[in-house]
Parts: sequence; structure tokens; C-alpha cells
Amino acid sequence: MILEEQRQAVVDACQEMQRKGLVVGTAGNVSVRVDDKVCISPSAVEYEDLTAELVGVHDLDGNAVEAQLKPSSELPLHLAVYHSTDAGGITHNHAPASTALGLVCDEIAFSHYYSAMFGGPVRVSPYADFGTDQLAHNVAEALQGRSGALMSNHGAITIGPTLDKALSLLPYLEYICEIQLRAMATGQPVKVLTEEQIAFQIEAIKGYKPAKA
Ligand code: 13P
Repeated sequence: MILEEQRQAVVDACQEMQRKGLVVGTAGNVSVRVDDKVCISPSAVEYEDLTAELVGVHDLDGNAVEAQLKPSSELPLHLAVYHSTDAGGITHNHAPASTALGLVCDEIAFSHYYSAMFGGPVRVSPYADFGTDQLAHNVAEALQGRSGALMSNHGAITIGPTLDKALSLLPYLEYICEIQLRAMATGQPVKVLTEEQIAFQIEAIKGYKPAKA
């Protein structure tokens, strides 16, 4: 089996999304890119039944290289993102707050500095049916200059230089959606950061990591 380690990483990421309550049933999908190949979760397989062998390998045109099962219906979306960004890993989920906020706005207001983790205000890609090239196009556009996006009437997506990084961003995306929804539910105007504050936070968050004293 080729790319066994990376295929196992896809299984682990899918099961982690499930453990964290970010997906219901077989919703969502995960992929990792290795040079000109993509390992992607198969379509409609229960995450607890997933094994590395069931994760297919495709080329960047979508041709199967080694795949036992039909790939995720969002293969076109994952490929479009790999073609238009330098992502090395992608996670897509239907977490409740991310999905709910995508029903009511076109952008997550930059009201919490965690938005800076995504490179700026997180966009909501316009609606398109799941599994379509139109959805792939819309989401790839919404991700330009960002490491996360919401998908209107659908869910959320994060990308990263590695699959681990993409996966680690998902709970933060869900968190900022959750607090935005709670703030909106008060009926009070939600305070957003100024352009200047946003620019500062985007730079500041890059340095937020463990360092010597
Ligand atoms: P797949 O099981 O085909 O990956 O579909 C799930 C999904 O979330 C579609 O957007």
C-alpha cells in the first residue's frame, strides 16, 4: 500500500473530528496532499469503520491511483483548493455553530481576535450543491488568503500546510462562530475590531507560540 502513513493520518483526523463532536454521522471529509497525490476519505463510510486501506489515493486531476472505494463527493472541492493554494491538508466538517452562522451571514464579523488565526475575516462561500464543481469554485475563492471558510447552508473548511495544522484550526473556527451566534442572540449590536486592530492582531497572532523567556 502506498502512502500508508498519510492515509492513516486521514483516518485519525476523521476520527478526531468525530470525537470532538464536529461532525454527525458520515458528514465531512479529510484529505492530505503529498506532492502530486491526494489521500482522501471515501464517501459515506462511517468514521469508526475507516482504515488506511479505505482511504483512496488520487492524482491532482482526480484519477484514482490506488482506491478501493468511491472517494469523498467533495474530491473536486479538495482538488480545487490544492490547485489554488499551497495547502498540504484539508478538513471539512458540519459543526453546529459554523453551519448555523453560515445560514445567516456572508462573513464572520471580526469581533474576536481568534479570527486572526485564519488570516482575516472568515468568508462564507455562496451556496452551491454539495459535491459540485460550483461548490469547489466558490469555496476555493473564499479561501484565498485565508486558512478557513464557512460554506453557506453547509458547513466549514480549514486548510493548513499540514493536515495537523488544518485539523487544529477547526475547533477555533467553531469557537468564533459559537461566540458570534451567542452575541447576536442578545439582540445587542456586536462590537467588531477596527481595521487597525485587525491588522495588528493578524501580525500579533503569528508570534503566539512557545518561546524561550
Ligand atoms: P462524503 O461522505 O462523500 O465525503 O460527503 C460528506 C459531505 O460532507 C459532503 O459535503
